[in-house]
Amino acid sequence: MAETINILGIETSCDETAAAVVQNGRVVKSSVVASQIKLHEKYGGVVPEIASRAHIEKIYPVISEALQRANMTKDDIDAVAIANQPGLTVALVVGVTAAKTLSFMWQKPLIAINHIHAHMQSAIIENDNIDLPAVALIVSGGHTSLYDCKSPLEPVLLGSTIDDAAGEAFDKVATILNMPYPGGPSIEKAAKDGDPKAIKFPRTMLKKGSLDFSFSGIKTAVLYHCKGQDMKGENKVKTFSAQQIADIAASFQDAVVDVLVRKTQIATKKINAKTVLLGGGVAANNALRQALGQMCESQKPPKILLVAPKKYCTDNAVMVASLAYHKYKAKIFAALDLEPKAAS
Ligand code: KG4
Ligand code: ZN
Repeated sequence: MAETINILGIETSCDETAAAVVQNGRVVKSSVVASQIKLHEKYGGVVPEIASRAHIEKIYPVISEALQRANMTKDDIDAVAIANQPGLTVALVVGVTAAKTLSFMWQKPLIAINHIHAHMQSAIIENDNIDLPAVALIVSGGHTSLYDCKSPLEPVLLGSTIDDAAGEAFDKVATILNMPYPGGPSIEKAAKDGDPKAIKFPRTMLKKGSLDFSFSGIKTAVLYHCKGQDMKGENKVKTFSAQQIADIAASFQDAVVDVLVRKTQIATKKINAKTVLLGGGVAANNALRQALGQMCESQKPPKILLVAPKKYCTDNAVMVASLAYHKYKAKIFAALDLEPKAAS
């Protein structure tokens, strides 16, 4: 009979305290996510010290609940996996300390996971075999990256943002438009009633063939649109009608999606990919999912698109435990002096 491996995954890289138990990298036994949205909402973004304190409060209750919901005890767990990079150091350190403590106390191997690679795994988790080569577009609040996904353990970075991440641009534009945090879902909701062609916001492609991204220009363009070119004008947002706001949201979203899809298409051609993977918080955006789907279908031959299920787009520990299974099989374990790393 095949061996059953249960991995406890832990995630504290930003503003979600999460733990999950995943069997053999695929069967989700439990997934617990304690979101801190309410704590950061009034600041329009994540406040690192507040995030750190909230992780400390929640980490053990969240881990206990993950074990309870999986109907397991420490004896059923084969390894403890932790996303130790990249992220906010003061947030990462809470999960890393908890994971190291459990690994030591339970005498189970410790597995270190890259948070962005875990987002990539969330697009694969429900698919047994993927046709390689594959391009992965990972779009989150902290990162916007394209990878040549040779295998879950060996993604090669093709390009990434040189300034703001896509999710960060959504969050900042939402703040400009006086919409609640997190901005992505707020913008998407408002955009439903807007005309994506109403305002021509810039699409920054950088130099020809570049697979890097830049979203600071479009954020500034939205700011100018709302405050005037010299930034001296009154913020006009309060005077805009609901339709005008919806048009700004739809036009902004359209421009961001357009750049993400065009760059993914370039990457797909470059590595002759058969499959495209989409993961990260912004992957929850329906306009992006649809546009990427259309791009994949229109290629000759068409590409297979694998998108992370919505429940695993934003930060969670299922993706951490799932990816850790591959490291477990390859016997790639971390030492107890593992440290959090802000960058990857
Ligand atoms: O992956 P994630 O939970 O955290 C990071 O690793 O950064 O992503 C959070 C980001 C936020 O910027 C949020 O605004 C964005 O994902 N997001 C969305 C949507 N849902 C979440 N962006 C656009 N459309 C959405 N529906
Ligand atoms: Zn993330």
